[in-house]
Amino acid sequence: MPEKQIDRPGTDKGLSRRKLLTAGVAAGGALATGAVSAKAASTPDPLITEIQDWNRYLGDGVDANPYGMPSEFEKNVVRRDVAWLTADSKSSINFTPLHELDGIITPNGLCFERHHGGVAEINPVDHRLMINGLVDKPLVFTMEDLKRFPRENRVYFLECAANSGMEWRGAQLNGCQFTHGMVHNVMYTGIPLKHILNEAGVKASAKWLLPEGADASAMTRSLPIEKAMDDCLVAFKMNGEALRPEQGYPVRLVVPGWEGNMWIKWLRRIELGDAPWHQREETSKYTDLMANGKARRFTWEMDVKSVITNPSPQAPITHGKGQTVVTGVAWSGAGKIKRVDVSIDGGRNWKTARIDGPSLSKSIHRFYYDFEWDGSELFLQSRAIDEVGNVQPTKNELRAARGVNSIYHNNGIQTWHVKADGSAENVEIS
Ligand code: MTE
Ligand code: CO
Repeated sequence: MPEKQIDRPGTDKGLSRRKLLTAGVAAGGALATGAVSAKAASTPDPLITEIQDWNRYLGDGVDANPYGMPSEFEKNVVRRDVAWLTADSKSSINFTPLHELDGIITPNGLCFERHHGGVAEINPVDHRLMINGLVDKPLVFTMEDLKRFPRENRVYFLECAANSGMEWRGAQLNGCQFTHGMVHNVMYTGIPLKHILNEAGVKASAKWLLPEGADASAMTRSLPIEKAMDDCLVAFKMNGEALRPEQGYPVRLVVPGWEGNMWIKWLRRIELGDAPWHQREETSKYTDLMANGKARRFTWEMDVKSVITNPSPQAPITHGKGQTVVTGVAWSGAGKIKRVDVSIDGGRNWKTARIDGPSLSKSIHRFYYDFEWDGSELFLQSRAIDEVGNVQPTKNELRAARGVNSIYHNNGIQTWHVKADGSAENVEIS
């Protein structure tokens, strides 16, 4: 940090930090213990021996940040896009900076965004949700009406079906933010969709729902009634506060474990019918072209998947050899993660990683693998196994089963090549 001139009322005006310093005082006990080697206390460290500005002068008052923002030193922790992905200068996809996060919750301002018609700006007072089609009485709800239903709090991951879609034909993007960042994990507060449907009265012939967005894309997807009656939520809060406009403010559909495209944002209407509608997003898009030229359809559930977030190309090892924390995230649309294995030699040998933090169904799990790095190159991989026994496949296993024409549902094992200098690169093991 450049030397800063302090000029605050009530303090020594313009006093430079340096002037306050007395020459090298030794000692000051090393705080760290155990295997992690902190610097020996014999070399005087001015950050210990000298009083710093932030320790000497009064800081900002509470009026500086009515809505709190991260430290200025975290300004690089942002969603980013990939320039060539969208032809337009106005990008419609950005990615969660997974390599900068820990724990299981994605902070609201860092949740990746995907919108097909831009962000709709809706005053909640003007928002309506209509239920029509095969119901006893079509209903229109205001946001106030919705908030009178009993609500639930649930943590779920949302993964775009196209996450890792650029990696089908080989390693391409350098960073887990770009290869895996179309996922976020949020605690939603919402109303079980079944309460709203029951209020309208579902006719026996109703087998499908068509939720529709109020944005310019009027996004629509066919959703089977069993899922709607099972665990879907009509959510209006994320991580305790109102949904962000980017995430569908004032209200979005939550479809746990299923592809992100079905989680209709700015939810304005749900039609009930006796057959799927075969909308654009379930015919031309979000279908999986196989090697034989046929396409899989209605592949709703997201497969078991994991990725090491540190170290990774955007987060190299900078501390040299010795004790090293490898960490990452794992999730499955089928339920909880049972186990995550980590390999440092490209999948020849596997060790069980430590899962830490809440283990919730259809939610991101955090794993750690703590080991002594000897400074030699690594081929880091992680492999997740979910509670129903699904095992994350290698990329070659996936290609053997599905060809290379797919865009969606790529859950193959990721490899990071960590070099002796600690830098990392996206590679594949053939
Ligand atoms: N809903 C509407 N109304 N419009 C959209 O463009 N995009 C979908 C889905 N719901 C979309 C939408 C897609 S493809 C995904 S992956 C998720 O929203 C992204 O949700 P997020 O922006 O909260 O990450
Ligand atoms: Co998507």
